[in-house]
Amino acid sequence: MRLIRVNAFVPSAAHSAAMETVLRQIASSALSGNDAHEYLAPLFLGTVGENGAAFERALLAVVREHLAWRRNFHPEDPPSISAADQRRPSFAAAMARTEHGLRALSARLQRSAPMFSPRYVGHMASDLLLPGLLAHLATTLYNPNNVTAETAPVTTELEIEVGQQLARMLGFNTDPQSGTPAAYGHLTSGGTVANYEALWLHRAMRFWPLAVHDAFGNDKPIAALLAPWTRPARHVAWRLANLGFDAIIALHAAVESELSRRPDAAALRARLAAARFERLGTAEFLARHELPAPVVICPRTAHYSWPKAMQLLGLGDAQLWYADVDAHMRIAPNAVVKLLARARRGRIPVLAVVAVLGTTEFGTIDPVHDLVALRDARARQGQAFALHIDAAWGGYLATLFRHTDGSAIARDEVRRRFRYFPSPRVHAAFTSLARADSVTVDPHKLGYLPYGAGGFVGRDRRMTGFVGQHPVYIYDPADRSASADRLAQLGDYILEGSKAGAAAAAAHVSHQVLPLDAEHFGRITGHTIRATESLYDRLRALAARLRGTCTMALPVEPDTNLVCIAVNPAGNRSLARINRFGRALFGRFALDPARTQASEFIGSHTSLLRRNLSDAAARRIARTLGFDAASFVVDVADAARDADHVFLLRHTLMNPWLADAGEGRDFLGRYCAYLERAIAETLAGA
Ligand SMILES: Cc1ncc(COP(=O)(O)O)c(C=O)c1O
Repeated sequence: MRLIRVNAFVPSAAHSAAMETVLRQIASSALSGNDAHEYLAPLFLGTVGENGAAFERALLAVVREHLAWRRNFHPEDPPSISAADQRRPSFAAAMARTEHGLRALSARLQRSAPMFSPRYVGHMASDLLLPGLLAHLATTLYNPNNVTAETAPVTTELEIEVGQQLARMLGFNTDPQSGTPAAYGHLTSGGTVANYEALWLHRAMRFWPLAVHDAFGNDKPIAALLAPWTRPARHVAWRLANLGFDAIIALHAAVESELSRRPDAAALRARLAAARFERLGTAEFLARHELPAPVVICPRTAHYSWPKAMQLLGLGDAQLWYADVDAHMRIAPNAVVKLLARARRGRIPVLAVVAVLGTTEFGTIDPVHDLVALRDARARQGQAFALHIDAAWGGYLATLFRHTDGSAIARDEVRRRFRYFPSPRVHAAFTSLARADSVTVDPHKLGYLPYGAGGFVGRDRRMTGFVGQHPVYIYDPADRSASADRLAQLGDYILEGSKAGAAAAAAHVSHQVLPLDAEHFGRITGHTIRATESLYDRLRALAARLRGTCTMALPVEPDTNLVCIAVNPAGNRSLARINRFGRALFGRFALDPARTQASEFIGSHTSLLRRNLSDAAARRIARTLGFDAASFVVDVADAARDADHVFLLRHTLMNPWLADAGEGRDFLGRYCAYLERAIAETLAGA
């Protein structure tokens, strides 16, 4: 096995006083604990529901407070349901049907994936943070719709604040008075939609200057604003499609200011809207400007939401150009340079380069710092693109790099908490995040919150000015005042419409209890890294013990908290057999919904695809695992599908109790013992 180098609450009015008390108790005990176990103990429901009584108390308080809220809204209102109604046989029968339905649901739910358990090391899910879970359940009773402040006066405010918290966690400025662009953020249904939104926004921005030129080429004052890119009149479309992010925003402000001075501003705005990509559509807009289809560059490890985004936005997934990755599944900046050169030669606009901060399969960290430098250098050379970071998984790990006052923590200081983490390049990547143009970051992953909480953060809130629908049932057309609180009208500038305010409340309460810095939330994310380091060391010991029986290896060096292993039976040189063995072994870690209690440990799997590897990396993996490199091929007939990949067991190490070695709770030790047994039994059965 390769030596690892782990590079690598303000409650809303909706919350009852009793719930506040419970949450404060949770908070104060959380913040005073020194030892990791003591710190984590009040924050989760627990492996066997240990904090169930406190949870029930908090829930009951919330329900009672909600009922009081209903009663106190208009106490003079007559009840809709009378006592006589409630005594009718049909009433009792309907209630019984509800109870029966819930019992049936509950019975089915028992077959769910037990993601709360430290025995679950499969996908990106774990036990939930108790403050967030309680806030989510409490807020659902009020059912706020964060599409607009009119339907969710409390939770839209919370969502905007959560956006600011996430932005600060990533290192962005959020102070509009500071003189530098102020970031904004909001929640999405998940990372997938945040990624869609990133492309939607960056496309709107990239093509906006072309629309201005189209609409106002003959309008002297506006044409003068465009002059730096339209004179001399050569390659105008290419140059207008290559303004840097800040230049586009500055131009937008200048054009808006000019338009607002004109008596016919409304007509002029309509003229501009008629020239936009969003109005004309891809074919018409590109033909008008004689431009080829724009591309997006992402690493080969990118999440499958990216080709979906390209399809959905009508860009075509053929225009998603995959950059090669290095042997450890991190985007190779040189590969991006080559693709950018190709785009430049073909005068193809690049909408965005995407880097991943915590790849879905391996948890690896792309060199954000190198890509920031590349973006800035290319913009100076007249080839601009947005840099988006898909930190859906790894974003909350940024808490490890942030002091309570928001400043970045030096690598040496972060390093003191860990055995191997973070490598200089992982540290550089995290501390460069604020220089990206936008970031996807998911509270429902490493934020330990219920689903329905992805997140999008933009470096400059003026980005929202490039999109907008202004529906008349939300915006009064007779209201001429500038929308002072645009950020609160979420449905106007985000991709989604109706959305759960509960997600925002959950994130807000959770972030109050555990501020997003190393001293607080970072204790949980730090735990995931320590669990990974511990598992690594144990796997190394296990690999040594198994020598002679099999070769066990980590083909990808973990940067963070995902670990993949492959196992090759001793003496075997066939990749196909490694893969058959891997699948048989995984059978012992696969979730069987019919018999969840029979599962000792639940994992996940992935495959290392030959087509994503360089020749050298493929040879190194073949050598490490001891199979024949020549048999590891890119294009194979269906019959030989076992030759174009190496099947891997994948572990996501986010459960809060994993690195807990006390009183028989050493789940990682038990995991390794089970793995050893599973390997032996699989070998015996092979
Ligand atoms: C890197 C990355 N981006 C995006 C996503 C999509 O997130 P979601 O499943 O919340 O839509 C994931 C999900 O695993 C991911 O790992």
